[in-house]
Amino acid sequence: MITSERLDRLAPYLFAELERKIADKRGQGVDVISLGIGDPDTPTPGLAADELGRAAHDPGTHQYPSNRGRPELREALARFYERRFGVALDADTEIVPALGAKECVFNINLAFLDPGSSALASDPGYPVYTSGPLLAGAEVDLMPLLAERGFAPDLDAISPAARERARLMFLNYPNNPTGAVVPDGLFEAAVEFGRVNDVLIVHDASYTETTFGGYVAPSFLETPGAKDVGVEIFSLSKGYNMTGWRTAAIVGNADAVAAYWKLKTNIDSGMFEAVQLAAAAVLDGGDDVAREMSAIYERRRDLVVGALAEIGVPVAAPRATIYVWAPVPEGHTSASYCELVLEQSGVVVSPGGSYGPNGEGFFRISLTVPDERLTEAMQRLRSSLAR
Ligand SMILES: Cc1ncc(COP(=O)(O)O)c(C=O)c1O
Repeated sequence: MITSERLDRLAPYLFAELERKIADKRGQGVDVISLGIGDPDTPTPGLAADELGRAAHDPGTHQYPSNRGRPELREALARFYERRFGVALDADTEIVPALGAKECVFNINLAFLDPGSSALASDPGYPVYTSGPLLAGAEVDLMPLLAERGFAPDLDAISPAARERARLMFLNYPNNPTGAVVPDGLFEAAVEFGRVNDVLIVHDASYTETTFGGYVAPSFLETPGAKDVGVEIFSLSKGYNMTGWRTAAIVGNADAVAAYWKLKTNIDSGMFEAVQLAAAAVLDGGDDVAREMSAIYERRRDLVVGALAEIGVPVAAPRATIYVWAPVPEGHTSASYCELVLEQSGVVVSPGGSYGPNGEGFFRISLTVPDERLTEAMQRLRSSLAR
């Protein structure tokens, strides 16, 4: 069997590897606690399930959905953006639903990249920012995210050659995996960069609804001029415990949204309309859910940061996301440390190097396990790894 060259360009998907390791250990009878994957452990809000149940009984939702999305969902997204971010969106031309942010991040590469062109991607970053361009037959130019710059890329440092071939730039704040919030001036600089270099700025807003200590995450589209050069991908997965529902949307620049839609009509047949109506209900009525979830993650964040400090791993408490990004102890690589943690304590954490070369030297803890399991995981880390 001959697989495609484009598939050969990819490293195995990080979480597929993690799932395999977890299954191995469990097979050996180890009570594994996985802090590897960011997948909310608490149920999807009742209002989503209630609306899904109601809408699923309506035969009007049973046929092929339109890829443009039901007006109810697009209008709910427009209301949400207005209420939450003060951003006005045209529900007819500036919004298209996506089957999760992952699908959207991937497909936007197919819509905008050709061989020889590239996407600028954060390093470390969500793996699809680098695998997507490669699968599209194009290239990736990495933008280092360094702790000393608040995990913001230095846009001035992007080489003339990289500017020349770039058509897309992926940004993501609040950020996975670093937990950083957007540094002052970055979105403004990105708008200018997009304008001068004719690069579409794609802001992945998957974590804007999970914030702590009064921090309120902005939309990229709040930035003056952003809609001229960019789009935002908003996902309901993390903020509203809806990872299994595959609900997201691309919003912003009408030409870019139309290009994505044109591509998508050739690839999939849209989101089950009952799910679209459920997502609309959450966007209209789910503000409390996101706040309650943030309070839960903030408590867990404090638990993890405190336990890490006790075992000699200092980390600044993140102001958003469901992750803690921590330096590996001296003498280890990210991978060797994560192997050791799994071997000695049955706890899975993600090696920073899997998110890009500049993730090396870090590991990521996900806060999406119940408090008791997280406490147990940190106790195991403490007893087996205290230095
Ligand atoms: C930055 C980022 N973007 C996108 C996704 C995928 O989100 P979705 O469930 O909407 O596909 C994730 C999931 O971890 C993520 O961290």
